[in-house]
Amino acid sequence: MGKAAARGTSGAIVVLTGAGISRESGIATFRDADGIWNKVRLEDVATPEGFARDPGLVLDFYNQRRRELQSADIRPNAAHLALAELEQRWPGEFLLVTQNIDDLHERAGSRRLVHMHGELRKITCLACHAVFTWTSDLDRSTPCPGCARPGRLRPHIVWFGERPLHLDEIGRALERCQLFISIGTSGNVYPAAGFVEVARRRAHARTVELNLEPSQGASLFDEAVYGPATEVVPAFCRTLLAGAGGGP
Ligand code: APR
Repeated sequence: MGKAAARGTSGAIVVLTGAGISRESGIATFRDADGIWNKVRLEDVATPEGFARDPGLVLDFYNQRRRELQSADIRPNAAHLALAELEQRWPGEFLLVTQNIDDLHERAGSRRLVHMHGELRKITCLACHAVFTWTSDLDRSTPCPGCARPGRLRPHIVWFGERPLHLDEIGRALERCQLFISIGTSGNVYPAAGFVEVARRRAHARTVELNLEPSQGASLFDEAVYGPATEVVPAFCRTLLAGAGGGP
């Protein structure tokens, strides 16, 4: 369906978010000047090799981020809330794909949501492969809540070199969408950074980037609005909903 036709319907929307949408909630991004990868080597804490080399270092890294996420002063911001409202009020299909491992989209009310890089408040067992919600620290001796084997638990997080989650569902949604919105991501990491091209080529979708500054893939988008997510995302969602029925 071409863009013109899309505008005449309340077409399907796919939204991709990255760390930038949670920045104003107090959660650091990865590649900004004060980003996480400027403080710790991703090779040490976000790869299977790093985990095999020093599991204690990796578990401590995610224990600290889990504790921070669960502290009282970390809460969804206006951008998270605007996306939850858009999902609830949009007459067409809607899927929110996040690269983030925080739970701020859920806490804002989002439901049609997939975490393609996993979730900080979940763990998985290397022995029985079960996934569990986990809110406390995880150490090397913790027994699996399912199979009881000790020392086989890891964060339910997709590390570099591992296959992201929900790619089939995401691919189907991208091939059907009339509007693809990318929010708060630098466009550095694939396959997420390639979703805009799938939406353009396979769905002829309208593509929009909402970010603090142009991302690596900025030239691939039809439109862009730059500014803090808590300002540009609610404004864009309001405009969409005002035209609902008029399509994205
Ligand atoms: N509002 C909107 N965008 C913002 C804000 C803000 N307040 N603050 C920062 N940004 C933007 C930055 O300009 C940058 O383009 O958010 C983006 C954050 O980029 P990254 O730090 O690279 O985070 P992200 O794109 O989510 O990283 C993708 O890389 O390390 C892996 O698994 C990790 O999911 C992560 C993936």
